[in-house]
Amino acid sequence: MFEARRERLAQLLQQGGTDACVIVPGPNLYYFTGLSLKQSERLSLAIITRENQLLFLVPQVEVSKVEKLAHDHLFWYTDEQGPLKALTELIKALGKVDSIGVEHGHMRVMELKAVEQLGAAGYIAIDNAVDQLRVIKDQQEIDAIQRAVRIVEESFEATLPSIREGVAELEIAAELEYEMRKRGSEGTPFGTIVASGYRGALPHGRASDKLIKSGELIVLDFGAYYQGYVADITRTVAIGELASELAKIYEIVRQAQQAAVDAVRPGVTAHEIDETARSIIRDRGYGDYFTHRLGHGIGLSGHEEPYMRQQNRLLLEPGMAFTIEPGIYLPDKGGVRIEDNVIVTEDGCLNLMTLTKELISL
Ligand code: CO
Ligand code: CO
Repeated sequence: MFEARRERLAQLLQQGGTDACVIVPGPNLYYFTGLSLKQSERLSLAIITRENQLLFLVPQVEVSKVEKLAHDHLFWYTDEQGPLKALTELIKALGKVDSIGVEHGHMRVMELKAVEQLGAAGYIAIDNAVDQLRVIKDQQEIDAIQRAVRIVEESFEATLPSIREGVAELEIAAELEYEMRKRGSEGTPFGTIVASGYRGALPHGRASDKLIKSGELIVLDFGAYYQGYVADITRTVAIGELASELAKIYEIVRQAQQAAVDAVRPGVTAHEIDETARSIIRDRGYGDYFTHRLGHGIGLSGHEEPYMRQQNRLLLEPGMAFTIEPGIYLPDKGGVRIEDNVIVTEDGCLNLMTLTKELISL
């Protein structure tokens, strides 16, 4: 699988007239090699050539991870030596390159400085080409996302009894993360959001020491990783009796979210999916309080292509995976967001999430 992905990348390099590309530790490296390396103060990089040759420069501590894959194209250095000599050897092995592909969105200056030693005349951003490969998920990737979705859904249900008046948001976040870990999550793709009452009006309200009160809405937005793949869910629950406006905005968001899920099929644009939800919220008078795009792609990254946003004319294709997460945020009063993860299928949409979207009152 990884070999086939590298082959496709090598073909893209040939088509683009690029001799080789440099991949730094991160989701793209995992996508092409299956290796989880960390971007750290120790220089690590992989080079994939247009002939589909794979070379690595890594610190000694990573050799055991990489050596099977790199065979005789592994150049490593000790902490004592530093990377310079190994880099020189790699450059010799690589030979002359005129143009080099780089990840504009991931490479740091320290990696760019090393790449400059290769002496290429030009640099080409490969981000879009790699995004085009990653945006269509194969069955194995969909299965991993589905497993991650199961983890977040079960963890939500397991945490519900802990959501009570007088409990701190941070305590609920801790419960969610514990339940996810227990079910096999490899980590959290972003800081767990538990935002109650007025804090719910902050779309990215990370859990705080605020205590939950009766009459509040609580936005819970959290994610898990399974085999490197992300699930990202939001549910909003109520504690006690809600003011009528809060109940009303919940219902508007629920309808807008479901309408957008129902609109997903191949050939529709990302804009149209966003607009389906946005127009419902706008028509009900809350357009100014839906302050972000409708959704984002999920995969090896928590946020990736395709982005469900206004003016994105990208056509949906089978195998695309993304979130649908409209919200309404009323300053000082509270907020609602509901988020599912969906896959575009040949004839429509597979919603990977099964949890109810009716308002849960605790
Ligand atoms: Co989310
Ligand atoms: Co999201």
